[in-house]
Amino acid sequence: MQADAGGGTIAGHGLDWPGLFATRAERMKASEIRELLKLLDQPDVISFAGGIPDPALFPAEAFGAALTSALTGDSKGAALQYSVSEGYKPLRDWLVSRMASLGVECSADNIMITSGSQQALDYLGKLFLSKGDTALVGWPTYLGALQAFNAYEPKYDRLTPLGNRSAADYRETAQAKGGAVKFAYASADFANPTGETLPESARAAILDLAEALDIAVIEDAAYQSLRYDGDEIPPLLALDITRTGGIETSRTIYCGSFSKTLAPGLRVGWVCAASPVISKLVLMKQAADLHSATLNQMAIHRVASDGFEAQVKKIKATYQARRDAMLAALARHMPEGVTWTKPDGGMFVWVTLPEGFDGASLLAESIKTERVAFVPGKAFFADGSGANTIRLSFSCASEAMIEEGIKRLGRVVRGG
Ligand SMILES: Cc1ncc(COP(=O)(O)O)c(C=O)c1O
Repeated sequence: MQADAGGGTIAGHGLDWPGLFATRAERMKASEIRELLKLLDQPDVISFAGGIPDPALFPAEAFGAALTSALTGDSKGAALQYSVSEGYKPLRDWLVSRMASLGVECSADNIMITSGSQQALDYLGKLFLSKGDTALVGWPTYLGALQAFNAYEPKYDRLTPLGNRSAADYRETAQAKGGAVKFAYASADFANPTGETLPESARAAILDLAEALDIAVIEDAAYQSLRYDGDEIPPLLALDITRTGGIETSRTIYCGSFSKTLAPGLRVGWVCAASPVISKLVLMKQAADLHSATLNQMAIHRVASDGFEAQVKKIKATYQARRDAMLAALARHMPEGVTWTKPDGGMFVWVTLPEGFDGASLLAESIKTERVAFVPGKAFFADGSGANTIRLSFSCASEAMIEEGIKRLGRVVRGG
């Protein structure tokens, strides 16, 4: 018995798996880059590839105490039992206060706990996108959002907050593609992959466009707490509430996450939105996984209540120093013609190489000759453009490693 070249038929058993899969599976493809990056767990590689927190900064002891406490005494039954799809009520209550500190007045009915914000993106794709509908996204945008939405077979159009395309143009373009515009997806603070932050004028422009098209806005706030410079800008949801008078009349769906601040492995995020949206998401969660792990929600609740601000302050100091080291190293080692973003927060610097460069070939060369890894930018573009871009993450490398890695990368670019 042998797998055939078509990648599925087993001689003698004859199951044509791709033929059986739904059409939505056609757009689920392993990225070549991910496959390449899997090979990078070698000690001599300096990696700027993963957009993940530094594990040395996890509040592991606090989690140890929180988990022990959740599994002791009265709470242990609840910690290990089935629970409600909305999420652990004390955590939702804590999030009501957290959202208030961001300018969002809401109640626990406006919050559902998700298994990471990635789950929220999947559910929102499922909730809004019929096949052929259009999602407005940045060029580039978070790859995981494209992967989540792709399962629902949408079309994409480019969200350019400060561009001059009219709502009518967006509407007609979507109609010509066989559907309607359903939402605009944006990360307003320290976006993945660019590190860029939308000024308040761009946020207002997104809300204007959404209003004119009468669509939802999905605000991905995964990195929002990680600001190193400048003043906080109100989230899209807060601006929307200011316009419309309250969360129930707001069109913005805010997706938050504890992954970048406390711990991604516990898979705890949340959605904050008008209650009709939350009610539908709750039904979706019931059907998908019933609820997020209660024990994890309890641990997150305890650790966040005891010291969210202190933890954020600690990690910000480390990441800020690494960001500074990366920007300084880029200025020292990159040749003329290369440009990069100067993020006020988050984990990423986005580098644009001169036309003609190909990020994927550069990665192959860079790993081979200089043992430095990064993510080629093309995968972040819904239209397949952006070959001359790369994403660098500064979150997991020491300042010395950053200096050395960027020096090596500079040599690869000069040779390319
Ligand atoms: C912009 C953005 N949104 C959402 C996520 C998903 O994070 P999580 O599901 O861990 O909350 C990530 C993870 O890297 C991200 O970069």
